[in-house]
Amino acid sequence: MVYQISCPCLFGLESVLAQEIRALGGEAVQVSDGRVTFLGDAQMVVKANLWLRTAERVQLLIGSYHASSFEQLFEGMYRLPLERYIGAKDAFPVKGWSLNSTLTSIPSCQSILKKAAVKRLGEKYRISWFEESGPIHQLQFTILKDEVTILLDTSGVGLHKRGYRPTANEAPIKETLAAGILQLARVGEDTALIDPFCGSGTFLAEGAMLAMHIAPGLRRTFGCEGWQQLEGVSLAQLFAQERAQAVANVRKDVSFTAQGYDIDPYAVQLAKDNVYRAGVAACVRVEQRDIADFSTDLPKATIICNPPYGERLLEIQQAEKLYQVMGQVFEQRRFLNYYIISPHESFERLFGLGADKRRKLYNGMIRCQLFMYYKGGVALSTAKKTNPHRTPSDFAAGERWRPSEGRTHSGDHMGKGRGVVGSARDARPSKKGPQH
Ligand SMILES: C[S@@+](CC[C@H](N)C(=O)[O-])C[C@H]1O[C@@H](n2cnc3c(N)ncnc32)[C@H](O)[C@@H]1O
Repeated sequence: MVYQISCPCLFGLESVLAQEIRALGGEAVQVSDGRVTFLGDAQMVVKANLWLRTAERVQLLIGSYHASSFEQLFEGMYRLPLERYIGAKDAFPVKGWSLNSTLTSIPSCQSILKKAAVKRLGEKYRISWFEESGPIHQLQFTILKDEVTILLDTSGVGLHKRGYRPTANEAPIKETLAAGILQLARVGEDTALIDPFCGSGTFLAEGAMLAMHIAPGLRRTFGCEGWQQLEGVSLAQLFAQERAQAVANVRKDVSFTAQGYDIDPYAVQLAKDNVYRAGVAACVRVEQRDIADFSTDLPKATIICNPPYGERLLEIQQAEKLYQVMGQVFEQRRFLNYYIISPHESFERLFGLGADKRRKLYNGMIRCQLFMYYKGGVALSTAKKTNPHRTPSDFAAGERWRPSEGRTHSGDHMGKGRGVVGSARDARPSKKGPQH
């Protein structure tokens, strides 16, 4: 049986996910905002859960239809072949969202869709009461411009939860975002990776897993494993097969290495624990170090990091000083490649070098840019100056994304050259407030 498989992802990572899906053998791959859909069988559903590094979930597309009234919403769901997936004893909770549509009340939509599913399944199974004691089949609805899509989740816990990061530090980057950035930076089997702000070690762990071909889902289970079967195909058997294959695929002979540094001893220990749990400790070294003391003897390396940026004015100023310090210490080794994610509009001015390329990404709901330096960077124009006395309201960095904004972004902001460098220790943002 061929399914239409649908994977939501973070905005900005669609093309990376599409590439992953093609490499896995997914067919008829289609990209839309925050989502990639493709065709595949039950084995592909299993593979996608196990292998996709940038997908948030793997869902089956059950159907889509137009609805601008509750009657249409009910009728559309009632007509879908839910019994193909949901058994008489299965639990089938419903959740979802609506955007730019006539039907705006999520609780009402939820309740109507549930009633329609109960009616359809009740008639098929000739029962009037559902005990819902069986495995969970989470139904997800999306309503966009009155177009309803009904999906069935197969992942259970979100795919960013790999199983190696039970606790995190204050502002960890999401594993799926880290994996996307690592792929954009073309981290591979022979990369020497450095994260000078490693926090809980997400880039280090994800980088090593990518380089060693370790499936990101190898250390966890998935919602659909509890279903036993999908239209007669044993999922347990498929998961067993694919896990065995994934274990056999792990490459321990790669020359990949990773170094992580952080000023916070707690973060250093956390990163060590996490890379150990991820099974990649052998190729990762983590040490306590202030960015001001950064140096490396590596002839060629890729630096990937998400430095702090702060939310309150004082923290923002401290973060700005850190960017200046980064510019100074990295400048000594211009041959390195840097990939830095930040929401700060003036990052390049503070860092002292224009990026070769930028990419818009969302860290959660925060609009960011990935500043990519892989050809030596671009000298900054001295023409445009940034007001150093901005108030928080002038400050676009850390702006919250609202769906109604669409995906337009303010332009890149380049200003004058390198500024005065303060002590990075002084520049360390307060640990009290959230950073990302
Ligand atoms: C946004 S977090 C990085 C999160 C990390 N990518 C993760 O996944 O957990 C920024 C990190 O920078 C560290 N940091 C702050 N000031 C620093 C400095 N001067 N030198 C080195 N690390 C610093 C913080 O301790 C924090 O762990």
